[in-house]
Amino acid sequence: MQIETLTGAIQEQASPAIVVNLFEGVTEPGGATGAMDQALDGAIQELIAGGDFRGKSEEIAVLYPAGKLPVRRVLLVGLGKQEKFDLEAVRRAAATAAKQARKLGVTELHTIVHGAGVGDLAPEEAAQAVVEGTMLALYRFTELKTQLEEERPNLERLVLVEFDEQKADSVARGAEAGQAVAEGVLLARDLVNRPANVASPARIAETAVAMAKEVGLRAHVMEKGELQQRGMDLFLSVNQGGGEPAKFVVLEHNAGREELPTVVLVGKGITFDTGGISIKPSAGMERMKGDMAGAAAVIGALRAVASLDLPLHVVGLTPLTENMPDAFATKPGDVVKSLKGLTVEIINTDAEGRLILTDALTYAGEFNPEAIIDIATLTGGRVVALGSGAAAVMGDETLSERLQAAGEAAYERVWPLPLFEEYGEYLKSGVADLRNVGSREASSITAGFFLSKFPPDGVPWAHLDIAGLEITEKARPYAPKGATGFGVRLLVETLRRWPSPSASAQ
Ligand code: BES
Ligand code: MN
Ligand code: ZN
Repeated sequence: MQIETLTGAIQEQASPAIVVNLFEGVTEPGGATGAMDQALDGAIQELIAGGDFRGKSEEIAVLYPAGKLPVRRVLLVGLGKQEKFDLEAVRRAAATAAKQARKLGVTELHTIVHGAGVGDLAPEEAAQAVVEGTMLALYRFTELKTQLEEERPNLERLVLVEFDEQKADSVARGAEAGQAVAEGVLLARDLVNRPANVASPARIAETAVAMAKEVGLRAHVMEKGELQQRGMDLFLSVNQGGGEPAKFVVLEHNAGREELPTVVLVGKGITFDTGGISIKPSAGMERMKGDMAGAAAVIGALRAVASLDLPLHVVGLTPLTENMPDAFATKPGDVVKSLKGLTVEIINTDAEGRLILTDALTYAGEFNPEAIIDIATLTGGRVVALGSGAAAVMGDETLSERLQAAGEAAYERVWPLPLFEEYGEYLKSGVADLRNVGSREASSITAGFFLSKFPPDGVPWAHLDIAGLEITEKARPYAPKGATGFGVRLLVETLRRWPSPSASAQ
């Protein structure tokens, strides 16, 4: 999609469709909507007076100026209650307008920057949210369909129109950021929507390397030989029962820039989770193609980080493998040594995510990071505890708070769970240093506790459990049914807010 910004009056644009907005409860619109209403001889006030439009979130009306304006159609979108107005309301308003434009077959849209003139929303953030809401709402996964249902074309051109010249630069910058972030989310969605026979470890690695070339990231893919030589046996133990070779992708933004703070992101990349010998029931197992959503979020986030050219050294690590049962598969009770040196009794081969993450968390130490964040579809317990409302975060408190604040802004929320020492009792093994599962109790926490034993000592680390959030069964305002791309916006926002070294030295 082509995205542009323009300074001027929205009612003067010659466009197939323009978008203006209205808060709930407003009866006499002001600003651009008011100007539009005047140009339309009070048609908007009439809509409101008749009770046909109330300004609720996700509400939309289409008006036809019939020659009174150079524009063909006016889309009036509700912003919801003014007291509740925030960036999420902006994303939803933009999404509502974009979906309506597609329904109408309109491929070009001029829009007001919802929120750029309201309260304490910065025009830059508002513009970013407009672009995010638009691009994310229009996403479709069609690459595997040969028989397309009759579908309307997607928007091809979006123009953000800002009246105030002083805000023009901020709007342009925000629009660019919104596009960078949305492209990262869309990549993550594609990777998660692709089934396991298409998105194998090798194919995901290829996609990541091609993307890295395009945006200027350093990329390296470790194969079995290198992984063996380095001692990532716990990771390889998950791969040994499968046909697809394991891959470990390393992506780096600002590689070699020693003066920049380093942050390592680690994403769980199980391309299909059968459970292994501790095999899962078959009902709904197809969902487990999404068990690489953590890796997808990391790859998508790195794409955005590179496009935004953040002043950080960001490393993305994605261990990629299937979890399959066969004659060579790990058996319950097997003991395997981790890269860290700790031995693990693998009681349940379905608790495989933590096995591949641990070696990656230890390997992260090679980059001398100031923080490590992992993201993983790790436990069904996360779904039970928090549902679709929030991801779980565990580990370093300061880092968790930063993730929480960024998640609030991106509307990819996270909520903390404790890692009290006592939870370690669940993971005691009679034959090895640790067992890989506890009991049924507190399964998200014991998984997090297990992980906590593996990052390098003294490096702040946080773990995000996003199980269940990677795929949505019902459409959301700016996510159709299917992969959500959850985590990309959360990670990118966290990195964009990263405290600069000079600030912490003062
Ligand atoms: N990939 C699953 C977790 C999952 C559940 C992801 C639901 C997405 C939606 C993970 O590997 C798993 O199997 N976890 C087990 C761990 C158990 C065996 C300790 C779980 O949570 O049931
Ligand atoms: Mn599993
Ligand atoms: Zn899994």
